[in-house]
Amino acid sequence: MPVNLQERWSIGAVEVPTRIVLAPMAGVSIQAFRRQGRRFGAGLVCSEMVSSAGLEHRNEKTFGYLRVASDEHPLAIQIFGSEPRAMADAARMVEAAGADIVDMNFGCPVRKVTKTGAGAHLMEDPVLAGRVVEAVAAAVDVPVTVKMRRGVENGSRACLELGPRLVEAGAAALTLHPRSAQQMYTGEADHALTAELVERVGVPVIASGDVTSRERALAVLEQTGAAAVMVARGAQGNPWALREIVEGESFRPSREEVAAELVVFIREAVRELGEQRAVGFLKKFYGWYLGHGRFPKPFKQELVQLHTTEEVVTRLFAAAPGAAPLVERLESELPAAEDETLLDRLPISVYGGG
Ligand SMILES: Cc1cc2nc3c(=O)[nH]c(=O)nc-3n(C[C@H](O)[C@H](O)[C@H](O)COP(=O)(O)O)c2cc1C
Repeated sequence: MPVNLQERWSIGAVEVPTRIVLAPMAGVSIQAFRRQGRRFGAGLVCSEMVSSAGLEHRNEKTFGYLRVASDEHPLAIQIFGSEPRAMADAARMVEAAGADIVDMNFGCPVRKVTKTGAGAHLMEDPVLAGRVVEAVAAAVDVPVTVKMRRGVENGSRACLELGPRLVEAGAAALTLHPRSAQQMYTGEADHALTAELVERVGVPVIASGDVTSRERALAVLEQTGAAAVMVARGAQGNPWALREIVEGESFRPSREEVAAELVVFIREAVRELGEQRAVGFLKKFYGWYLGHGRFPKPFKQELVQLHTTEEVVTRLFAAAPGAAPLVERLESELPAAEDETLLDRLPISVYGGG
């Protein structure tokens, strides 16, 4: 039977309206990115990885990752750490913040994370990995999920042994990015492993890695029997790729549409991060949005040099005057900021009151 990308599926009791998941990406998957992803057809969106230690120590910046807007659902918030009790506490905060799913990061290859026993290190420590999942699953009512790599070393098949153990410990779905931690992002994702994992577990599997087109999404789903595909780098500055994957039509956005989406994204990022942090955060997005032959290269160079986001917005409107009414329409369709679950509305008990 041909694969239908617009089919509903579920993780526990959480219904996911399409078979496209927008990936967690550190330094990228802020709320603005997730809301945009939902608008363009992602059935599920995910926060970037949030440190359980940061939540435990009531780090203000870490708490900032727990903002949830009404148009994000279903939303997974991803936590990382290796200490079962701290991960369980973090999961409670994530649930209280309004996430529909608590996802755990067992795939981060970065040494700063793995040396603490977290991220991809857990692929090599099945006993601790199982304890972490058990503790998190026992702490919350929402479904808990795990995102894995294939293992640490090149050629590792650790995910095939670990996956079923994590399901036994309480994972309601698994995501597999079938590269080794050593590979980082080089080489290719080996989805033959994803197919094997699907055979071994009775919960939905999400296939992550190298899905950038509808053709590839369909091929991966067919090859693996996975419940959904996850899109990461392919969606950077390119929400139209999500729409194309889900709906099947080729979307070549006009300059006006590109500029309008970028302006809305900039304004949302400023609201979320504050002007000072947003200026640096946004720089990489200019290249991502304006590339693909959409604007001449020097234009991106020019935007990166500007000191305020307001100057960037002014330059974008000057380069694509027709973008202004599009921005107005997009902004009128976004839910008001008051719809957001703000941290100060969370029950004090979650934070221990002080
Ligand atoms: C910039 C960047 C940041 C990422 N951060 C995370 C993260 O916080 N948590 C996670 O589980 N995976 C993270 N990933 C991995 C992606 O979710 C995804 O599994 C990987 O990029 C493969 O998918 P792709 O080929 O579609 O990019 C990150 C990837 C990139 C490129």
